[in-house]
Amino acid sequence: MTRLICVSSGKGGVGKTTATANIGAALTQFGADTVVLDANLTNPNLGFHIGIPLYPTTLHDVLKGDAHITEAMYIHDSGLRVVPAGLSVDDLRDTSPDNLSDVLLDAVGEPDFVLVDSAAGLGQESVSAIEASDEVLVVTNPKLPAVTDALKTVDIAEEAGTEITGVVLNMVKDHDSELDKEEVESMIGYDVVAEIPHHEKVEEALSVKKPVVHHEPDHNVSERFKGVSADIAGVSYEPDITEPGFFQTLIDRVR
Ligand SMILES: Nc1ncnc2c1ncn2[C@@H]1O[C@H](COP(=O)(O)OP(=O)(O)OP(=O)(O)O)[C@@H](O)[C@H]1O
Ligand SMILES: [Mg+2]
Repeated sequence: MTRLICVSSGKGGVGKTTATANIGAALTQFGADTVVLDANLTNPNLGFHIGIPLYPTTLHDVLKGDAHITEAMYIHDSGLRVVPAGLSVDDLRDTSPDNLSDVLLDAVGEPDFVLVDSAAGLGQESVSAIEASDEVLVVTNPKLPAVTDALKTVDIAEEAGTEITGVVLNMVKDHDSELDKEEVESMIGYDVVAEIPHHEKVEEALSVKKPVVHHEPDHNVSERFKGVSADIAGVSYEPDITEPGFFQTLIDRVR
């Protein structure tokens, strides 16, 4: 059965697209047939995180009724399928997310997972993505404003009857100013299913248009993305995490 998982946050810039690309890549490596879909209609950029060429048919065409969702699926070399969104302002003008739910239902059946990368904020675009999905994977950084916004996402998902898969705590720097895992769990009311460190390798991977899981497969960030993906897929996998040494910790702290 296809699981439709919306990757949502409330606050922008916390790592939704990074999580979508990397969990999509890792699920594919674990043998799950996976589609990642760019439902950030206003500022789409999922294609840049994975490295796909400009694709002639996009989610905007599908939402307009001009194409079937399978026609907008680009197959990446890794086997991951990507549904990009249109990049032009004209695409944006003529499209509404209202029938996203019907479009996603058309994708149900064949893939094991459809990961929906949603927009920042809690406007119609992201609410439609939450309502159209079976589950929400909440992404936040460990700071109070982001966690407060994540809580609103959870409220919307609960109202819509969409299950919460868990919380991905991203960009963790282990600074004293950050909320820790337990504090985030008690505020949001759901388990933190992954703690992803803040690391320059993530930006480096984006600059070469690859998920970190492809760019640096053995890095701690990749191992943690693989760990949460294995949990989601129900696959047994022991992430190989090397604790950073004293000097690395010092460098990470002053960054
Ligand atoms: N763990 C991390 N360590 C370092 N940089 C990160 C990490 N996660 C994400 N980033 C960087 O932060 C920026 C924002 O990430 P991303 O685009 O995934 O966020 P987003 O929530 O999808 O943003 P938006 O709300 O604009 O869609 C990107 O440049 C990305 O490379
Ligand atoms: Mg994004």
